[in-house]
Amino acid sequence: MSQYDLVVIGAGPGGYVAAIRAAQLGMKVACVERESLGGTCLNVGCIPSKALLDSSERYYAARHQLSRHGIRLEGVSLDLAALMKRKDEVVKQLAGGVGFLFRKNKVEHLPGHGKILGPGRVEVTARGVPPRVVQARNILIATGSAPSEIPALRFDGAHILSSTEGISLREVPTKLIVVGAGYIGLELGSVWSRLGSEVLVLEFLDGVLPSSDRECANALQKSLEKQGLKFRFQVTAQKAEVAGGKVKVHWTSRDGRETGVEAADKVLVAVGRRPVTDNLGLESVGIRLDARGFIPVDERFRAAEGVYAIGDVIGGIMLAHKAEEEGVACVELLAGRSGHVNYACCPSVVYTHPELASVGFTEEQCKSQGLAYKVGRFPMTANGRAKGMDETEGFVKILADARTDRVLGVHILSAHASDMIHECVAVMEFHGSSEDIARGFHAHPTLPEAIKEAALAVDGRAIHA
Ligand code: NAI
Repeated sequence: MSQYDLVVIGAGPGGYVAAIRAAQLGMKVACVERESLGGTCLNVGCIPSKALLDSSERYYAARHQLSRHGIRLEGVSLDLAALMKRKDEVVKQLAGGVGFLFRKNKVEHLPGHGKILGPGRVEVTARGVPPRVVQARNILIATGSAPSEIPALRFDGAHILSSTEGISLREVPTKLIVVGAGYIGLELGSVWSRLGSEVLVLEFLDGVLPSSDRECANALQKSLEKQGLKFRFQVTAQKAEVAGGKVKVHWTSRDGRETGVEAADKVLVAVGRRPVTDNLGLESVGIRLDARGFIPVDERFRAAEGVYAIGDVIGGIMLAHKAEEEGVACVELLAGRSGHVNYACCPSVVYTHPELASVGFTEEQCKSQGLAYKVGRFPMTANGRAKGMDETEGFVKILADARTDRVLGVHILSAHASDMIHECVAVMEFHGSSEDIARGFHAHPTLPEAIKEAALAVDGRAIHA
């Protein structure tokens, strides 16, 4: 029987990164994965959706924006098959890259479904080969999450879609209903809207992106409305009926007073994700799930003696980079080092146009915690580079402690916000102040100058606004 120091179950960004780091630290490591390497993020999540966002943004620009730059195009048309093929190639190359990294670091990939049989024992089952049991000094569960379903809108893969099908359509739907104005709803709603669909988003709450800074989320909503997305808030999608190649979605207003039906070619249900723990053998090591189905862990990510868990399956913010940091911290602690995850500095990005990138507290959180804070804002319209790029939508908002000036949160609504937020993450990691940002050089002309100006604005001394 093969013996390992660590057997990781799941090769998503949490699991594969943990496996590589553990191998770097001298452990003999295997990683069990039943689908292709890279998990949800790489195969059906972050990576393919961003490839589609980038392609659709170019198509949209060709049709609606390039003429402003003096570029005249005629006969612009969409080759959806080629667009999807490029996306699939990006995914294939990156999944191959994970396999290469495994070989380079001597991490053994065990293809199949991993199930814990008891302390230190993992069974790997794959089609066409007899089940195999391996021995593990430690087991790390990194099985991630799957799309949540609404009971009366069960995914059928053809008309009622999860994000997995929502990134692989063969035709642009004439009308698409999106249930949920969260990350996935807005990103995939944007993709299909840019490619020509009429998109209607049904959302239970009062606005888009419930956990984001309200001012920024509301501004993003307005921008998406200008791009053509339609929203209906305070409604619950109740059920869907498929007939004659169309889908009808029944909704009820939150106060129960109003009901309605919307017909479309497809409905994309994006109402959150649930942890994946089925057939993992958790009971064999005494792990009991919490009320929401997550695996409870202690501060060292320990779920049971010799069993650890990280990423979406333990709850918290469901982001690939959160899983990666947890995976690294977990195996570093296992190796006797001092792994640590600073959740307070975990950035999040919604890859719409403009993008919304955030780190730290929202203004609502500052208020609810009774913090005395100052706000510095700077509009992208006043940034020279943004003007040159024709990307003047949005603003930078910095929240700083009124007494100490320590940065509490930063929210950037702008093109390329995802590339800009990391300066603020670094400053917050070092407990820096808005003054630190304001005094630091920012190359001219660049979009990040807007961050410097917002930092100056905290103290009422922005230069260009
Ligand atoms: P989400 O939690 O972001 O948003 C779900 C939305 O659906 C909420 O606003 C909720 O109020 C609404 N909702 C729930 N039930 C409803 C109903 N019956 N009718 C109408 N509205 C309803 O979930 P989403 O977008 O599915 O994303 C799942 C996870 O994936 C998130 O936790 C996110 O962190 C992650 N993700 C991250 C991305 C990124 O980092 N850019 C991109 C895509 C996903």
